[in-house]
Amino acid sequence: MVTGQGILEADVLVRDGLVAALGRGMAADGAEVLDATGMLVLPGAVDEHVHSREPGMTEKEDFSTMTRAAAAGGVTTVADMPNTSPPIDSAERVARKGVDVAGRAYVDYAIFAALTDSNARALGGIVEAGAIGFKAYMGPTTGGVSPPSDWSVVLALRFSRETGTPIFFHAENGSLVEGFSEELRRAGRSDPAAHSEARPPVAEEVEVARIARMAAAVGEGVRAHVAHVSSAGSLEILEGARGILGAEVCPHHLLFTAEDYAVHGHKIKVNPPIRGAQHREALWRALRSGLISTMGSDHAPHAPQDKEGDVWRAASGIPGVQTLLPFALDSALRGLIRLEDVPRLTSENPARVLGIYPRKGALAPGSDADLVLVDPRGRWKVREEDLLYKHPEVSPYIGMEFRGRIVYTMLRGEIIYRDGEIVGRPGGRWVTRGGALRGRRSIEARERRGGSAVSGT
Ligand code: NCD
Ligand code: ZN
Repeated sequence: MVTGQGILEADVLVRDGLVAALGRGMAADGAEVLDATGMLVLPGAVDEHVHSREPGMTEKEDFSTMTRAAAAGGVTTVADMPNTSPPIDSAERVARKGVDVAGRAYVDYAIFAALTDSNARALGGIVEAGAIGFKAYMGPTTGGVSPPSDWSVVLALRFSRETGTPIFFHAENGSLVEGFSEELRRAGRSDPAAHSEARPPVAEEVEVARIARMAAAVGEGVRAHVAHVSSAGSLEILEGARGILGAEVCPHHLLFTAEDYAVHGHKIKVNPPIRGAQHREALWRALRSGLISTMGSDHAPHAPQDKEGDVWRAASGIPGVQTLLPFALDSALRGLIRLEDVPRLTSENPARVLGIYPRKGALAPGSDADLVLVDPRGRWKVREEDLLYKHPEVSPYIGMEFRGRIVYTMLRGEIIYRDGEIVGRPGGRWVTRGGALRGRRSIEARERRGGSAVSGT
């Protein structure tokens, strides 16, 4: 068993979908036995950042394809992002989505809502409807969700501090991105690498800095998280904001550099962009030091035709929910991180950030029996037909070889993936932070008065 606390040899007793006990030589009395000799047993990964494209963009992906791919990749809980059509930005839309996708989810799922100027004073009702947290798109993104004003961000951070609700930030500055893009376009640039210059480090760093200062002003206890951090300068700012502002890294920013445009073209066009090697090395250092606490996929699938045309037309986003855990395992089996870092980065910390730990993200008595069994001697050379996405052909991971092979994925005690095959029917459940809003009445009263529940700044 591999957990963030260490590695031990033990049996796991599963009963009624929960981990009932851990120990050595447990009596099996009538239980079904799964022999995991020689295998690594990890808690199922919690991918805190996926885009299923539901509702309204299902030509790119849908809940069934995304969650099948998740199951095959050892991900047993996904948190789905709100930049859809329409965007998920109200209590009603959260409630409708949670029910709509229910029969098509192969793994458990949580639902993010978008933070906008229209809902920043009504966040309590959105969480009550089932939202796990809020995503703030500080600049332009797929789906065109309007960025919240600074004041809306402060209101959301206060709400986060009072209720423990996570606020995720896509930190890129719209004005800078538009300015740099326009300049490059006028200069006649249309090659894939122009994308990285159109969204240079400074565009991310100014937003990370502003978020860090706003979060610090609201005070300790805010649960603010920078999604897909990608620049070395952002890490310096995060270092000064430890305990106030956390960060997620994505496999693609740890793998690729701008030189890879020559090989992959728009397949690695993503926001924030793939950058130079010095940024990638800084991300690895921050991952090892614990400054970066989570690894999420930012699974952002597109159809092949969306990726066509020149750099100004091609869509941004890389599909990756199925390769997240394999990438983390491969990194550990190559010695780039420790084996214990894998469940820490891909299960425990994401579940903590989402407020669903230890029900999710843990391998401990009382936790959901979401388990992944890995053959550490196995290898996986990614083939297009292995990827269960709607459009596997746009993946830049095809042809890559990962050390370690996922053999079983178990969701609440049921095997959902075995040796290359999805097993069974979609039994995924909606994960919410029930009881999270204990001080809810006072929050709602103050929201109605147009104020905020916390006087932080
Ligand atoms: C994301 C998408 O396609 O939804 N794209 C991306 O490049 N990461 C949205 C986003 O985070 O900007
Ligand atoms: Zn984003």
